[in-house]
Amino acid sequence: MSGRVDDATIRRLVEQVRGRIERTPRVMLILGSGLGDLADELGDATRIPFEEIDGFPRATVAGHKGALVAGRLEGVDCIALQGRFHLYEGHDASVAALPVRVMGGLGARALLVTNAAGGANPAFGAGDLMLIDDHINLTARNPLVGPTLPGDERFPDMTWPYDPAFKDAARAVAAEQDIVLREGVYCAVLGPSYETSAEIRMMQRLGADAVGMSTVPEVIAARAMGVRVLGISLISNAAAGLTAEPLHHEEVLEAAESARERFGRLVRGVVPRMAAALEP
Ligand code: HPA
Repeated sequence: MSGRVDDATIRRLVEQVRGRIERTPRVMLILGSGLGDLADELGDATRIPFEEIDGFPRATVAGHKGALVAGRLEGVDCIALQGRFHLYEGHDASVAALPVRVMGGLGARALLVTNAAGGANPAFGAGDLMLIDDHINLTARNPLVGPTLPGDERFPDMTWPYDPAFKDAARAVAAEQDIVLREGVYCAVLGPSYETSAEIRMMQRLGADAVGMSTVPEVIAARAMGVRVLGISLISNAAAGLTAEPLHHEEVLEAAESARERFGRLVRGVVPRMAAALEP
């Protein structure tokens, strides 16, 4: 799917998925590389593989299963995306944002977005979890390009796309659970090649702490829809040039394995607080 997604397509997908799930989700989860297993822990779950959703793209990346899973996590009705659509797969930015459009169309008003990222901050190590304080979009793409979708803002404010109350909730859960939670700026690039050492030095000077190939299209679309966002990166490797090692995708999956238990506890702690913050 390389073309831009239009409103009729989104509506059709929302109605298809609505027909298969029992309850209205309140919180949507996007589970990045190696982090998708959490969706298998949802209670009373309905699992819909991407290929069963007519008109949905397929997931192609190792470590991404490709399914929407609706169910309950710690008493909260959630819908989780296991896998996602990346710009580097050839998708338009509006396709990368399509799952947020669909899950938002089903009624979810909060997004917990996760990813695997390289650590540009030399203090970070593989396996660290990082609360995304803010982002820098170096993809030169934006999912809102084209006609304004119904309900969207044309020029959404992006001063603080990651919700301050959600960030406080994540910090509180991390402190209570004894989880080391780094904080920093996520820098999104197009990929799929990793960065050069010079590019990482540039990003460090721009203020980046982590670098990855996802998340920003989804967050921009969420903000245009008025959906509140929390972002967590799993630092899977030191970014290019920070160690003597060449980078490879397997270390993403290894780091995810080492962080799985901490990540699960953090998400289980924070989701009910996100849901509570949505109450008027
Ligand atoms: N660079 C970009 N994307 C990534 C990296 C990285 O080092 N690690 C995981 N995703």
